[in-house]
Amino acid sequence: MDLKQLKDFPPNFLWGAGISSFQAEGDWRKNGQGRSVIEYTRKEKNTTNFEAGVDFYHHYKEDIKLMKEMGLRAFRISISWTRIFPNGKGKVNRSGVEFYHSVINQLKENHIEPIVTMYHFDYPQALIDEYGGWLDRRSVIDYKNYASFLFNEFGDQVKYWITINEQDHVIKMPDRLGMINAGSYSDTEKEAYIANHNMCVASAEAFNLCHLLLPKAMIGPALSYQVYYPASDNPADVLAADDLSLINQNYLLDLQCRGEYGAVFTKYLVDRGIYPRFPESDLKILKQNCPDFIGVNYYSTDDVTYLASNGKFGKTKGLPIPSQENGVFKKEKNKVLKSTKWGWAIDSIGLRIALQRLYRDYNLPILITENGYSEIEKVSNVDGNETINDKDRIIYLKKHIQSVHEVISEGIPILGYCVWTFMDVISGHSGMNKRYVKVV
Ligand code: BG6
Repeated sequence: MDLKQLKDFPPNFLWGAGISSFQAEGDWRKNGQGRSVIEYTRKEKNTTNFEAGVDFYHHYKEDIKLMKEMGLRAFRISISWTRIFPNGKGKVNRSGVEFYHSVINQLKENHIEPIVTMYHFDYPQALIDEYGGWLDRRSVIDYKNYASFLFNEFGDQVKYWITINEQDHVIKMPDRLGMINAGSYSDTEKEAYIANHNMCVASAEAFNLCHLLLPKAMIGPALSYQVYYPASDNPADVLAADDLSLINQNYLLDLQCRGEYGAVFTKYLVDRGIYPRFPESDLKILKQNCPDFIGVNYYSTDDVTYLASNGKFGKTKGLPIPSQENGVFKKEKNKVLKSTKWGWAIDSIGLRIALQRLYRDYNLPILITENGYSEIEKVSNVDGNETINDKDRIIYLKKHIQSVHEVISEGIPILGYCVWTFMDVISGHSGMNKRYVKVV
């Protein structure tokens, strides 16, 4: 609906940007850093790997100075687990700890609020080698110990914590779970929901620890949240859009914010024989330990039609995240919205819908942990100056921020907005060609 008047953004609104350790830092396996699954993950042909990143490791002081000049009030970093514990547990690498102290101090000195993600895709390879990582219950203990170390070490400086980045995606990408030989999610669905369960319990343990050790801090997950539109007014498509929303994202928030699997999701897992086994007491841990906010990575929306089983019940297609599942859904191109070169629909109203739905369903404050526009930048010469025309990105950001402004005016508590990104980081799948920031 149209709003008659807009409220001001709250004075303490976290106007920020974000990066992740593996996409930005570089300094690959130097200064004591251990191996992570990122070294083994599937990468598109002819794209850059993450070895050098954009060298944030050596340039963070200049970068933070630039952030200050830009007026950033918050910066979301992720801590590389294997810079702190090269083997995922046990012996601490002091040089990694000092690096993050220095980054956080530098941010604080420049009046930029650090937002710290504890694990953004780069899971320790040593834990995969030892017991299979998230597929084994020991992963909960190791994550809890890692979280406890971070809270004790950085807790006096860091108020905003993010437990796991995009768990909803990680479980559907076998290589990010350390299963490099698996072809696709279809082959590893059962394992995906075991990993998912362990991650949820580990997160609940971290919520609990954070609340005990750092009562003034706030902690939450960051998930990739999309709006799924029925591609037609056929009720079967409406149901498919709801179903996809449940099996891609709400299932996770139901577990983390309500401590329950939910009736429809339980049936989905049981029908496919992939409901994980776990002790009953886990549900108590989940119910008693919920996040303080929901972090949302929002880029686009999708249209959905119902896809009949056709004798292939539950079969999925699409990499890295399924684009269809027989008996549930098939994604379709939206006829109204424009898309980026990577086919991501550009939809600022979708952000408003997403934020409204999240608040309606979970009643928690929301932090927009990622939102941004990707482009293949073309340098052109205007009056003897090399320049990039990034009009489309400016329009994208303006419109998405307008949506945030509208939901704030509707009374929904939004803690902040972190653009992806401030620097020219390497894309998660598409190397250096896919850019989220103008570079000249
Ligand atoms: C999110 C991730 O999924 O999307 C980021 O948290 C990632 O790490 C971002 O960079 C954009 O995706 P991509 O593949 O365009 O880099």
